[in-house]
Amino acid sequence: MIEKVEKIWFDGELVDWESAQIHVLTHTMHYGLGAFEGVRAYRGDDGKTAIFRLADHTRRLFDTCKLVAIEPVVTPDQVNDGCIELLRVNRLDEAYLRPLIYVGDGAMGVYAPDNPIRSTIIAWRWGAYLGPGALERGVRTKISAWVRHHHSIALAKGKIMGQYTNSILAKREAKIAGYDEAILMDVNGHVCEGSGENIFMVKNDIVTTPPLSDSILGGITRETVITLAQEDGYTVREDHITRDQLYLADEVFFTGTAVEVTPVREVDDRMIGSGVAGPVTQQLQKRYFDCVKGRDPRHLEWLTFV
Ligand SMILES: Cc1ncc(COP(=O)(O)O)c(C=O)c1O
Repeated sequence: MIEKVEKIWFDGELVDWESAQIHVLTHTMHYGLGAFEGVRAYRGDDGKTAIFRLADHTRRLFDTCKLVAIEPVVTPDQVNDGCIELLRVNRLDEAYLRPLIYVGDGAMGVYAPDNPIRSTIIAWRWGAYLGPGALERGVRTKISAWVRHHHSIALAKGKIMGQYTNSILAKREAKIAGYDEAILMDVNGHVCEGSGENIFMVKNDIVTTPPLSDSILGGITRETVITLAQEDGYTVREDHITRDQLYLADEVFFTGTAVEVTPVREVDDRMIGSGVAGPVTQQLQKRYFDCVKGRDPRHLEWLTFV
């Protein structure tokens, strides 16, 4: 259960938690067409709260709307201001923010071009996404029997609500089998990503992650970590990864707003490296947390202070 907060941003207004209700005929609830984001705000060592890469998340929210051809009524500035306002009014010094743009009620049937486009932002406290200890010890993963959407079936570059059925099926399969997280491949046998995070492997100090032309979300944390790895002098390749390359990697880790930088210590019951967070993963995880918490003066432009 998520911890209740006082206010929710609902079509541009701050309303009480209990009042943020939608009608059962909400079109997105029936067919899944809509855009959402996941953003985090952190409290820095100086006590100031900042939202990490807010403008980039809002840009992707609007890009997702473009992909699914829905026209938001709100502007990116309104969404950005809404996120800041929500943290202030709820007195949240650290939070996960969830903006959504979706199709409201009106007509039914898949073609309902005149239904209102609605928006909301919710903020709540959220700790380590893959559970206590995941960031330090790493997680056990399973390559899913479910494959990622083919490019002719879905729009992987969008955070589209309905597409997440694929992630949920993979996640449930992994959890029921006793693992922490799923890794999904595409129809060509290329490793793509986790159910809600991008994936990286390290072999002989070369950092590799699947290319954007694979069926992956263009993760903002993925891009952040590529930048940080390059700054630290690593060669970063965006290249296809196969199952056997992953098994034989020195290190594997996930990146995402929710998972942050989480080591993967096992894939399909094969220990990765020595089964603990490897040195490159640890270094990039530290650099990531330094950035989000405002400790790295080189990347203050990624922070929106609340
Ligand atoms: C399927 C999927 N891949 C990757 C990511 C990581 O993206 P980001 O780093 O922008 O949070 C997410 C989370 O948004 C996701 O849902």
